[in-house]
Amino acid sequence: MIPYGKQEITEDDIAAVVATLKSDFLTQGPKIKEFEDAFASYIGCKYAVAVANGTAALHLCALALDVQQGDKIITSPITFAASANCVRYCGGDVVFADIDPNTFLLNIKAVEQLLVAAPKGTYKGIIPVDFGGRAVDLEVFRKLADQHGVWIIEDACHAPGGFFIDSKGSKQQCGNGNFADLAIFSFHPVKHIAAGEGGMITTNDKVLYEKLLMLRTHGITRSPEQFKNSIAFAAGEPSATSYPRWYMEMQELGFNYRLTDFQAALGASQLQRAHAMLEKRLQIAKRYDEAFSNERNIKCQLLELGRNPSGHAYHLYVIHVQDRLGLYEHLTTKGIIPQIHYIPCHLMPYYRQLGWKEGDLPKAEAYYKTCLSLPMYPALADNEQQLVIDTIVEYVGK
Ligand SMILES: Cc1ncc(COP(=O)(O)O)c(C=O)c1O
Repeated sequence: MIPYGKQEITEDDIAAVVATLKSDFLTQGPKIKEFEDAFASYIGCKYAVAVANGTAALHLCALALDVQQGDKIITSPITFAASANCVRYCGGDVVFADIDPNTFLLNIKAVEQLLVAAPKGTYKGIIPVDFGGRAVDLEVFRKLADQHGVWIIEDACHAPGGFFIDSKGSKQQCGNGNFADLAIFSFHPVKHIAAGEGGMITTNDKVLYEKLLMLRTHGITRSPEQFKNSIAFAAGEPSATSYPRWYMEMQELGFNYRLTDFQAALGASQLQRAHAMLEKRLQIAKRYDEAFSNERNIKCQLLELGRNPSGHAYHLYVIHVQDRLGLYEHLTTKGIIPQIHYIPCHLMPYYRQLGWKEGDLPKAEAYYKTCLSLPMYPALADNEQQLVIDTIVEYVGK
């Protein structure tokens, strides 16, 4: 079986996990901070907060940015449901804006139309998604967001190591916090860095960082400088002059969204190979590009994107074919299991019952009809990729 995505686990990864299992801490130990620091340095941001998964990361971001009942937040329909659901967890309203048919990313013009048409303050935030691994140009989104007083959460689950080039010609790494208020990543096994389950929030904002640390663990703080109750109360002793060491306070309604230390150890070990694994993804993409470049019936992602392929982190390699269902069935009979990313989120029954319907976002709906994600992961062997290519070309023909 050749799936569309899969983890790569080395002996070093296994040794890192085993060493942590033999240590004093299975959770709340030193591996978390080690992983956070290494990840922050890889991404190029100031702060990183490790959490249980990417969905928890999104939820905590929405809480940290104080999403309230009725707040309107804009996101893309071509994403995993969690990008939108985090708004609903807080009682907010998701407003999907259509995609740009050239990049398949949230179309900034569609976002602008929404923002301009509503009284200021109607919208609270935007959640752009680095879909498939292609970096959103967050510089232009930031400009728009500032004009309308809204925040940005970058969903960078598909794009650790991805980047865009800003207007000054500088490389802006996904999740580096230079433009978005917060960014999130996932360490699900199909993602660039696997930890079983796991997620990370990155930011350059110290206030949000400290809030996230608290929300990740029940809303509890152990930092005396943040305590609200008196020393006398905390110590149970009117003459006490400092907070006792056992003392902690629950100040917010938080969650247990912690990552375990053995997951962090696996994530940190994988992170050491992140560059090499990304290179492998780029090689696989290039090979697909070359193989499909003369195939009239296959629209290939990079060739379609054309202009600035550099900076793409290739979580996914998406092709478009007219007989998508036929090709999908054919591939599965050969043991190749492609995937569809994504069924437009606004047409999921949950969002339909909130009022969304077919025809609302024509570009996203058209995209869905022909998209197919091919096997794309560092451990994909050359002969396996060749089998995928041959099977597709043979079926789709010239
Ligand atoms: C774009 C996107 N956002 C969020 C998530 C949620 O991450 P997780 O599965 O770790 O909860 C995913 C994972 O599939 C994703 O692809």
